Amino acid sequence: MRFEVLIPEDRVQKRVRELGVEISNDLQSGAPVIVGVLTGAFVFMADLVKHLKMPAAIDFIKVKSYQNQSSTGVIRLLSDITVPVEGKDILLIEDILDTGRTLDFLIDHLNSKKPKSLRVCCFLDKDLPVKARDHVSYVGFKIPDRFVVGYGLDYNDQYRELPHVAALTE
Ligand code: IMP
Ligand code: MG
Repeated sequence: MRFEVLIPEDRVQKRVRELGVEISNDLQSGAPVIVGVLTGAFVFMADLVKHLKMPAAIDFIKVKSYQNQSSTGVIRLLSDITVPVEGKDILLIEDILDTGRTLDFLIDHLNSKKPKSLRVCCFLDKDLPVKARDHVSYVGFKIPDRFVVGYGLDYNDQYRELPHVAALTE
């Protein structure tokens, strides 16, 4: 496998800091429940929360998407949040917006728990025409429609530890 650096570490860190400021301004009067989507969002979420200025509860949700050849992904919930969210503001942290199926599923699932509000923050956005984007309030970077790894994102469970974002070149 060959990869090229798409977003270097310093740009990632600068943007995450900016997002932290923006989210802190928007949610300063509340105490949101921040929900990270495992596994891909774990690095982004860990860096982002260090820049938030309000008290927040932290939880995680784990989903798996099964792809068939026509790439219609079926999403399955592997592990749910345990923090109560009814009447609370939720900030959902996702690694990447691709087909939007994962987000569609998660938005329905979390809204069924009757939060006061649900905002979504995606580290990367492949910028495809998907409906799920209507629910995304914060995006780290728009990227071309390429397979990327690093900063939490994997290829067969590898490369998540890279501090930058890299794109497959072959
Ligand atoms: P979606 O449901 O198609 O939007 O895909 C979202 C999920 O697929 C993400 O949470 C990632 O785990 C995974 N994914 C999508 N594109 C990529 C990629 O380029 N690299 C690594 N994982 C990806
Ligand atoms: Mg993955």
